Amino acid sequence: MRTMRSRVPRKLLWVVGGLLLTLLLVGCGKDLPQNTFNPAGPTAQSEKDVLIVPLIIAGIVFVGVEGGILFLALKFRHRKGKERMPSQLHGNTRLELGWTVAPAVLLAVVMVPAISLIWKLAQRPPDAMQITVQGYQWWWGFQYMDADMAVNYGDHGPITTADVMVIPAGRTIDLSLRSEGGGAHSTDGTPDHEVIHSFWAPRLFGKQDVVPGAAGEGNHIVFSAWEPGTYWGQCAEFCGLEHGMMKFRIIALNATDWANWVQARKQPAPTPAPGSLAEQGMQVFFGTGPNGAGGGQCIACHSIGGTSAVSTAAPNLSAFASQQHICFAGCDFDTFVPGPNGQLVPNSPALQAWLEDPNAVKLGAKMPDYNLTPDQINALMAYLYSLS
Ligand code: CUA
Repeated sequence: MRTMRSRVPRKLLWVVGGLLLTLLLVGCGKDLPQNTFNPAGPTAQSEKDVLIVPLIIAGIVFVGVEGGILFLALKFRHRKGKERMPSQLHGNTRLELGWTVAPAVLLAVVMVPAISLIWKLAQRPPDAMQITVQGYQWWWGFQYMDADMAVNYGDHGPITTADVMVIPAGRTIDLSLRSEGGGAHSTDGTPDHEVIHSFWAPRLFGKQDVVPGAAGEGNHIVFSAWEPGTYWGQCAEFCGLEHGMMKFRIIALNATDWANWVQARKQPAPTPAPGSLAEQGMQVFFGTGPNGAGGGQCIACHSIGGTSAVSTAAPNLSAFASQQHICFAGCDFDTFVPGPNGQLVPNSPALQAWLEDPNAVKLGAKMPDYNLTPDQINALMAYLYSLS
C-alpha cells in the first residue's frame, strides 16, 4: 500500500473514482427509452416482477458485505507506532455453514418464480400474430407470416420491413428469431458471415438469442404492447464491427392506424411519374438509365415491392419513406427530421452521406460504394423518398 501510494498521486485516484461514479450514475436517468424498469407490456412486466426481489436482496447483501469490508479495512488499518499482530483465527464452523446454507436457500427460493416464468413465457398462443425476425449484419428484417398479411402483387409473399417492426397494440405477437448472416451468400451456397445476435426491446421483452441455421429454429419471443407508441430496441450480443449500431424500433399502432398500415403495405410501391427526378433515381437504382445514367447496382441486394428488385440480401425498401419507417441503416439515422417550420422533412444530409460512402458513416457496412455522382445521388434520394 505504501509503495502504491507513493507512485499514484492521491488526486488522480479521486478523479478516476469520480469519473467512474459519474459513469455509473448516467444509467439512472429518468424516461430513458430502453428502461427495463419501465415495462410497456405483459412480458416485460412479468420479467421485471421476477427481477425485483433478487435485486433488492442482492443490494442488501452488497451493501452489507462491501460496507463491512470498508469498515474493517479502515478500523484496523496499519498505523504508525501502533505495531501489533491481530489475533489469528482459523475456522469457524457455524459461520461457514451459515454463509454456505443461506445463499443456497436464497437461490432455491428465487428459482421458483424464475423457472415458472420461463415456462410461462415459452408458451406460444396459437392465435398470436406470427412475425419472423431476421438478424443481418447489421440490421434487422421483419416478415409478417400470417396468411392475411401477404402482399397483393408478385408471388404474394409476406409483408416485409427493415429496421422498424410495426404491430397492433394489444395483440399478442409470436416472434420467430433467425440469424441470416451477412446477407451475401458465397458461390458454393453456404451462407456467409453467420453470427449470433440477440433481440432485445427492454420495455417490451428481455433478450433472446438469434441463432443461424437449424440450431436457431426454436427461439421465440411472445409479447405484446399495452399502448400505441414507439419502443426502442437493439442487438444485445456482440456480432462484429457494427454491433453497437444494430438498432431497431417497434411501433405499436391503434386499430385504425394498423388497418391503414397493413392496407398500404400490401400494395406495390408507387411508380415515379415519367420525366420526374424520382424516375431518374429509379433508373439509377435498377442500373437501367440511358447514356450511362445507371451505375447503381442497388437492385443486386435490395427489394422494392412490385418491381423486379426482389433480393433479400439487404433491407426491403418498399416502405422507405412511409410515416412509420422512422429510421434507416440499422436505425443509425432518422428518416425524417424536423424542418425549419417544425414539420418533418426528409433527412437528406444523412441519406446523401450514406449513399456517397457507406463505410464512412457506418464502418463495416456491407453496402458497397458505387462511386455515384452527386446527380445520381440526388435522383436516388428523390426515388427513395417517393416510396411511401
Ligand atoms: Cu447483432 Cu450484435
